[in-house]
Amino acid sequence: MEVNPELLFQGKIDAEVKIEPRDWMPPAYRKTLIRQISQHAHSEIVGMLPEGNWITRAPSLRRKAALLAKVQDEAGHGLYLYAACETLGVDRETLLNELHSGKAKYSSIFNYPTLTWADMGAIGWLVDGAAIMNQVPLCRASYGPYARAMVRVCKEESFHQRQGYEIMMTLTKGTEAQKRMAQDALDRWWWPSLMMFGPSDTDSPNSAQSMKWKIKRFSNDELRQRFVDYTVPQAEFIGLRVPDADLRWNEERQHYDFGAIDWEEFQQVLSGNGPCNRERLQARVDAHEQGAWVREAATAYAQKHQRQTV
Ligand code: 3HC
Repeated sequence: MEVNPELLFQGKIDAEVKIEPRDWMPPAYRKTLIRQISQHAHSEIVGMLPEGNWITRAPSLRRKAALLAKVQDEAGHGLYLYAACETLGVDRETLLNELHSGKAKYSSIFNYPTLTWADMGAIGWLVDGAAIMNQVPLCRASYGPYARAMVRVCKEESFHQRQGYEIMMTLTKGTEAQKRMAQDALDRWWWPSLMMFGPSDTDSPNSAQSMKWKIKRFSNDELRQRFVDYTVPQAEFIGLRVPDADLRWNEERQHYDFGAIDWEEFQQVLSGNGPCNRERLQARVDAHEQGAWVREAATAYAQKHQRQTV
């Protein structure tokens, strides 16, 4: 008797058996993984740009070295994730063309400008903090290569978050101008960081299926709430005020209640109308074009080396 492969597949998922590249998988599982992993990879690569903007202007050699290391880490995260995505039978060039043509998404958060040094602190603390909240559960994603890529990524994200929070802590212990700079950065990065977790659960077309397939272990709103609960005390500890007049601890829920997210802003940024969308995409297209000679040289070397060993 022929067993329905979809039932066998779901049985493996429910039994927490990792799905590997050579295993049978529903085409829709493959498709949503390519969608999510490639956009995750794009986010890592585009995410290098806002911080790269401050490497030459870091206030000390120590800060420059830490920021340089972080930006290099993000490049590595992008490469792990493109490699994980390629195990699903899609090639790197296709993925990059989808990014450069504007067809593929990357995280909305990277379409905001980095105006002061305090933004380096806010990004490490809030953006990498949100990324950790979202990526730790992905270490248990049902697709083996994705889950394994996440383990190493998360170890490095922890360093990113701590160096960002330490920048904010240092500024809040500094002059009045430095404290204002830190508060200004929190004011600009708080709400876009909440948007990183995606639309509300009621507006998320992918979540239900992704949770059934254990790609997603928690919903967008669950992880967002966890981030708020974890981050608000950190802001208070360094004397910063979260820019949300509706934020208050709800003893009954044992969570923070917080204000409404501006989903119109979110949709505008996703549609390419954020403050830096065009600049970010142009920077990636330029880098790809200017780096063509490196790819050509590496390919020529590999082909020559291959001929010599045949
Ligand atoms: N920015 C851009 N697009 C977003 C988004 C955001 N913040 N949140 C959601 N979207 C998109 C989704 O991609 C989806 O569009 P698509 O169907 O065309 O792909 C649509 O909005 C609806 O969202 P869903 O909630 O239905 O989509 P998902 O189930 O895929 O959930 C997600 C969205 C939570 C971002 C999920 O894709 C995910 O967990 N991705 C992996 C983690 C990731 O990409 N993080 C981004 C930041 S990486 C980073 O911060 C690097 C760090 O080092 C700084």
